Amino acid sequence: MSSIIITGGLGYIGSHTAVELLNCGYNVIIVDNLSNSVPKTLDRIKKITGKEPIFFEIDVCDKNALTDVFKQHSGISAVIHFAAYKAVAESVAKPLEYYKNNVMGLINLLECMNEANCQNLVFSSSCTVYGEPDLLPVTEKTPLKPAASPYGNTKKISEDVIFDTIQSGAKIKAISLRYFNPVGAHPSALLGELPQGTPNNLMPLVTQAALGKREKLFVYGSDYNTKDGTAIRDYIHVSDLAVAHIKALDWLFKQESCFYDIFNIGTGTGNSVLEVIESMNKNLEKPLPYEIVARRPGDVEKIYANSEKANKVLDWQAKYTLDDMTKTSLDWEKNL
Ligand code: NAD
Ligand code: WQD
Repeated sequence: MSSIIITGGLGYIGSHTAVELLNCGYNVIIVDNLSNSVPKTLDRIKKITGKEPIFFEIDVCDKNALTDVFKQHSGISAVIHFAAYKAVAESVAKPLEYYKNNVMGLINLLECMNEANCQNLVFSSSCTVYGEPDLLPVTEKTPLKPAASPYGNTKKISEDVIFDTIQSGAKIKAISLRYFNPVGAHPSALLGELPQGTPNNLMPLVTQAALGKREKLFVYGSDYNTKDGTAIRDYIHVSDLAVAHIKALDWLFKQESCFYDIFNIGTGTGNSVLEVIESMNKNLEKPLPYEIVARRPGDVEKIYANSEKANKVLDWQAKYTLDDMTKTSLDWEKNL
């Protein structure tokens, strides 16, 4: 079976994808510098799958070290590139760190792929490139808005870097998956999101409030033009997202010519913050405490995906419900 490099493979989405790849019989080579992950995740991947990925503690910005990985393992079939920094607010404070890590890491990787004649790439992009869309749901043809943060801009620039590289004649076939809002955890409760310090995203804050690890959840804004006044997102279970990468690889392997394409990965359903709370409450004896406060600056009002292209072309469907997402997130938080 072929070997796949997963950069950032010990992170939240990468670890779930490693599990799916190992379960499908792929050899998995994880490259991660542990800047936002822990070595224990490797043992947990082994525990779930009964299989052992190869692990290199390497920074993708270190070109020589990355080159060595390709040299030590000839015949790598594909790379799934997750490794990046992802905290929006931090990217505003430290733009150079974000451009350096996210863009330089990708450039090194593309150079290594060219040198090693590795032709298949799946790149982690984000719905953040759409900004506040004029029309919903967003398709891959929806015009992009100027990035609202340096983080968002690194995703836009990265997509352009891949496109231009392939246009120049590089022998690479590539797919960007634009993830909507990944949440949830592995049903074993052995893998999940591991925020450092105060979480930035909604779900870890919801699970912490649900378990009394924080006094309450602050709901940012109730005066949006939505069904209940709170903002709407397309929450997608991380295991569904992981499977989308397998489907993307299956499809890449079947293509003969070099190309670049983009797929939205969401459920196609928009849920409000209050609906997420309601769903979480089904798991609790006492409803989780929350307080409605002012809008968070920079937040979009509503966004959800049209994922028909991924459904049809990649033969991928989201299976998990919002209730599955809140339940598995809570089980993971209990296990932390
Ligand atoms: P994560 O932080 O949990 O995982 C990223 C992993 O990459 C971490 O293990 C980190 O240690 C590693 N890493 C970072 N920089 C590295 C470097 N220079 N060299 C080697 N390893 C490095 O994040 P995640 O949520 O799993 O996100 C994975 C990818 O998906 C990222 O590219 C992110 O931008 C993208 N994405 C995430 C979300 C989300 O909400 N989680 C949404 C859309 C897109
Ligand atoms: C979801 C909703 C908040 C916290 C971020 C990144 C984006 C992409 C996806 C990577 C919003 C509300 C949140 C809280 C709340 N990531 N909320 N109280 O804003 O859609 O996007 O993740 O590419 O780039 O910006 O996700 O989880 O932060 O927020 O009411 O304490 O929850 O206002 O409506 P968001 P989020």
